Amino acid sequence: MPWIVGVSGASGTPYAAAVLRALLAGGESVDLVVSRASRLTLLDETGISFRDAHWRDDLRDWLARGADGKPDTFDVGADLDTDAVRYWGAGDLAAGPSSGSYPAKGMLIVPASTACVAGVALGLSKDLLQRAASVTLKEGRTLVVAVRETPLSGQTLRHLVALDDAGASVVPASPAFYAGATHIQDLVDFVAGRVLDSAGVPHGLYRRWTGELGGATRPA
Ligand SMILES: Cc1cc2nc3c(=O)[nH]c(=O)nc-3n(C[C@H](O)[C@H](O)[C@H](O)COP(=O)(O)O)c2cc1C
Repeated sequence: MPWIVGVSGASGTPYAAAVLRALLAGGESVDLVVSRASRLTLLDETGISFRDAHWRDDLRDWLARGADGKPDTFDVGADLDTDAVRYWGAGDLAAGPSSGSYPAKGMLIVPASTACVAGVALGLSKDLLQRAASVTLKEGRTLVVAVRETPLSGQTLRHLVALDDAGASVVPASPAFYAGATHIQDLVDFVAGRVLDSAGVPHGLYRRWTGELGGATRPA
């Protein structure tokens, strides 16, 4: 059963790349939905024009980039040659993830825009990403929402409370500094790791707290 990964139009496409790489490296399969607005953030943050018709090439290009946007940072070779990723167009409301009878472990929205947060909290289903999230909630499956905005308006805070009440995990894209980060990618991987923690997916993206001050920052 796949994880549905929704990428919405908030800043933070490196978070999505890190989650996708970790899922694929961990042998998980993924159903990917990329919102229309996120094409702009992807273009801005990576230089990639993400195309539905060439999604496999564009995804491979994207996942090979680190948080600095530089190409060929990561070797994603074999992972994307498999059937591990299934791609659905954001406007395709007949896609598999738009129905509760479509099997899925749950959904990770990373990053989540405030527009996406509002749409899911209100059940708008304005595109496949929002519809898949509403389906995930109604089916009682794991939904992780990695919201990225600052400051947060009262309106968004109320939407986030509604999502929490509905059973979603709200995971702000808010890196911590106790895990010994030395590069931007470490901070990105911390957030991606916390997203995966909330979904119960094993990973080795960041060094966990040891119970000892300074422990996570000492050389392994
Ligand atoms: C370069 C860029 C960065 C943006 N960053 C954010 C952000 O960090 N958080 C946010 O909530 N919206 C951000 N937006 C605005 C969203 O893209 C916009 O609200 C859009 O409607 C979201 O649509 P979606 O949820 O369907 O992807 C950004 C837009 C652009 C062009």
